Amino acid sequence: MADIRAEEIKSLMKDARAETLRLFDLVREIDLRESPGFGFRPVIWHLAHIGVFEGYWILQKLFGENPLDERYDRIFDPINTPREDSKNLPSRREMENYLTRVREKIFRYLDESDFGGENPLMRDGFIFRMVLEHEYQHQETLAYLLHMLSPEKKIRPQARSPLNILSTLARDMVIVPAGQFEMGAREDSFVYDNEQPRHAVELPAFKIDRLLTTNEEYARFVDEGGYERREFWSDEGWQWRVKENWTCPLYWKRYGKSWRAQTMFDEGELDSQHPVTGVSFHESEAYAHFMNKRLPTEEEWERAASWDFRSETKHRFAWGDTEPNSLLCNFNFNFWGTTPVGSFPAGASAAGCLDMTGNVWEWTSTPFAGYKGFKAFPYPEYSEVWFDGDHRVLRGGSWATRAPLLRTTFRNFFRRQFRIAFAGIRCASDA
Ligand code: AVJ
Ligand code: FE
Repeated sequence: MADIRAEEIKSLMKDARAETLRLFDLVREIDLRESPGFGFRPVIWHLAHIGVFEGYWILQKLFGENPLDERYDRIFDPINTPREDSKNLPSRREMENYLTRVREKIFRYLDESDFGGENPLMRDGFIFRMVLEHEYQHQETLAYLLHMLSPEKKIRPQARSPLNILSTLARDMVIVPAGQFEMGAREDSFVYDNEQPRHAVELPAFKIDRLLTTNEEYARFVDEGGYERREFWSDEGWQWRVKENWTCPLYWKRYGKSWRAQTMFDEGELDSQHPVTGVSFHESEAYAHFMNKRLPTEEEWERAASWDFRSETKHRFAWGDTEPNSLLCNFNFNFWGTTPVGSFPAGASAAGCLDMTGNVWEWTSTPFAGYKGFKAFPYPEYSEVWFDGDHRVLRGGSWATRAPLLRTTFRNFFRRQFRIAFAGIRCASDA
């Protein structure tokens, strides 16, 4: 693993915090203090949670300090304090003071830290990387929650101008040949426990969509009665569809014969060539059945995204190993929303699929579980407690995912009825 230095860690931590605070600046504090909807915690809860997690792992677990504030440890622990108890939270200013105190202590320790040695939390800066990835993931969660607030409550930040590339790529399926590949991560950079151990997987040939499902394509499913036709839905999916009264993706609104949709800062005509989002696993699966297809397994997804068939090697990103940039994919809040499918031809995977890194997460059919030989590290609550059959794996990252999390071995996971993620659909079928 590349040598890391305290200065590099500090600078990554400072940048991450500045980005986090910028997200909270989009909305007035009073609008951050209530649930944005569907019973989710007030947006502001995430601010102190980020600091409590950081203090717990670095000050308490790594350096053996006592908790800075027992009350914070309790309120901002997602497991001890269930969502409905997250009320009467401290002010943003008080939370920011707490965050600053945690940071000052950490930076003092960092000046005298040695990233070699035997402590697995310290080695190669493991726990600092984990804390950083935790903050990046909460930034994306913040984006999901802020998206739920109506556009007039938000201040639009500076963003790159949206791309206007209309893809001329065929809406076909690519054929991925039968064969063996390497699934999962080697420990040559920070990875989560659930990405390991790397193992060989043998798959028969399969087909997978070159492009993500667009809003226009999904609208045909809706308009042809997809939400009323029982035959496309699993038993479970149908129960949710009835109970929650789903009739179209979250954020879509019927407008006469056409559709409008709410985006982060606007409401307007549905962007026909953008990927559909705001769909649960169940809706994604029903759509795939409507198309006489199915969702890919996560193994199929990883083979189609990361495997170089010519050299029989694995890549960190769909296009190869160069770091993500704005010509290769839609990530890092660069556009504050989705981009038309296939807008990044240079970002194609070796199999020929577009947008496998960034734009929207992709639902797979695979229940979240440990790979054979899985060992929980450094705590079971990151992965293992969610190996419960209720979660499905999502892959690939979204427009709100930071670069380090875009690696092709990263496994995201949400409950099957979860709709607020920036997640969409790429179908597969047997060859
Ligand atoms: C991996 C995105 C499902 O947000 O619940 C955040 C990441 N774990 N804090 C989540 C996570 C602990 C997790 N997801
Ligand atoms: Fe967390």
